[in-house]
Amino acid sequence: MSLKVAIVGAGLIGPRHAQSVISNSSTELTALVDPAPTGEATASQLKTNYYHTVAALLASTHRPDAAIVCTPNHTHVPVAKELLAGGVHVLLEKPVSDTLETGRSLLEFAQAPERAHLKLLVGHHRRFNPYVRATKSVLDRGSLGRPIAVNGLWTLYKPDAYFAPPGDWRASRTRGGGVIPINLVHDIDLMHHLFGPIVRVQAERTLPQRPSPPHDADEGAALTLRFASGVVGTFLVCDATPSPHNFETGTGENPLIPRSPTGDGSDFCRIFGSDASFSVPDLTRWSYDGRLEKSWSHPLTVDTIPLPDDAAPFDLQLAHFVDVVRGTATPSCSGEDGLRALIVCEAVQKAMQTGQPVEIDVDLLAQSKS
Ligand SMILES: NC(=O)c1ccc[n+]([C@@H]2O[C@H](COP(=O)([O-])OP(=O)(O)OC[C@H]3O[C@@H](n4cnc5c(N)ncnc54)[C@H](O)[C@@H]3O)[C@@H](O)[C@H]2O)c1
Ligand SMILES: *[C@@H]1O[C@H](CO)[C@@H](O)[C@H](O)[C@H]1NC(C)=O
Ligand SMILES: *[C@@H]1O[C@H](CO)[C@@H](O)[C@H](O)[C@H]1NC(C)=O
Repeated sequence: MSLKVAIVGAGLIGPRHAQSVISNSSTELTALVDPAPTGEATASQLKTNYYHTVAALLASTHRPDAAIVCTPNHTHVPVAKELLAGGVHVLLEKPVSDTLETGRSLLEFAQAPERAHLKLLVGHHRRFNPYVRATKSVLDRGSLGRPIAVNGLWTLYKPDAYFAPPGDWRASRTRGGGVIPINLVHDIDLMHHLFGPIVRVQAERTLPQRPSPPHDADEGAALTLRFASGVVGTFLVCDATPSPHNFETGTGENPLIPRSPTGDGSDFCRIFGSDASFSVPDLTRWSYDGRLEKSWSHPLTVDTIPLPDDAAPFDLQLAHFVDVVRGTATPSCSGEDGLRALIVCEAVQKAMQTGQPVEIDVDLLAQSKS
């Protein structure tokens, strides 16, 4: 039986998810929900049923098994709660919420016993990027030995036009702008995916390059990270320097940001293990395999890991959602993982302000329980 899936929010990204649902024979697109006047036309282009509101959808004969929520950030929590209350599994676009408080309230709501059978996933689809899949499998098969440290970069240059209305909120810290919540959040989620939870951060702010006012959002920082596993990391983030060393330029995943002209040359992540180290996106592994011993006095052995299939991350994410709903997989990015990325971003901002290390409780709901 195919899974009935509704898309909630038909702006930029909703129709892309709809295409994945249509193209997978395990899923059936049952409806599209969007209160905007353009919603009905989008639904008819997708040859699906149209509803103004989630409430109307839930009361209809097209009630779905699962929904993908692609609405503006501040509506994620209320829309997800309404769907869960209606017995619908939810894949929620990132970020999980616009504030930590509402994010925590969603997790508590989703974990209530009467809803414990329902799945809540967060759409950090980069986890399904081929470079990330390659890196994760290198780590999971122990090919680097015990992971010791990670060194990451997200550096590039954003032009003035990016901060012009209607994007002027991006220059404002209080309106959710700045490189930490907008960009670093993705790298934090990837590091969580690869190494598990971050439990302590320290941060030093970069020299501001843009005029204030109007710019009061963060431009960058040098970070020190400690993971619960004992892995340590450093990470440099800055959106005011011309540089190819970032996920988008390195992998070419975002059509608006051209891939590096040097191809794999623009590295953005290096991982160090007890047996080998690895760099991304060139997927090069450095070891002493085949040598008499591990020693700096021998030449390193260099291998390149092949990229896996180039299946679209949105298609893989949908297939994973189906598997989770059917009970054959556990969520790659759960609601808790989505919230954890936001909590670490907030900790980074606090560390930048105070100059002090900030500890993060592995139990995310600890604060609201106490
Ligand atoms: N994973 C990704 O690559 C990716 C890319 C873009 C956006 N996103 C995320 O997806 C979300 C949507 O982004 P977008 O760029 O498509 O935004 P958008 O503004 O283009 O579209 C949002 C749509 O939601 C509709 N909407 C608002 N309230 C609604 C409600 N209560 N019920 C149903 N529909 C409602 C709006 O009318 C609009 O059509 C954001 O949270 C964003 O962070 C993710
Ligand atoms: C919220 O959603 C938009 C897409 O509409 C995205 O570009 C932005 O980064 C998100 N905001 C935050 C603070 O994460
Ligand atoms: C559709 O989803 C199923 C379930 O996860 C998966 O096995 C299959 O490969 C997917 N099909 C496509 C075309 O992505």
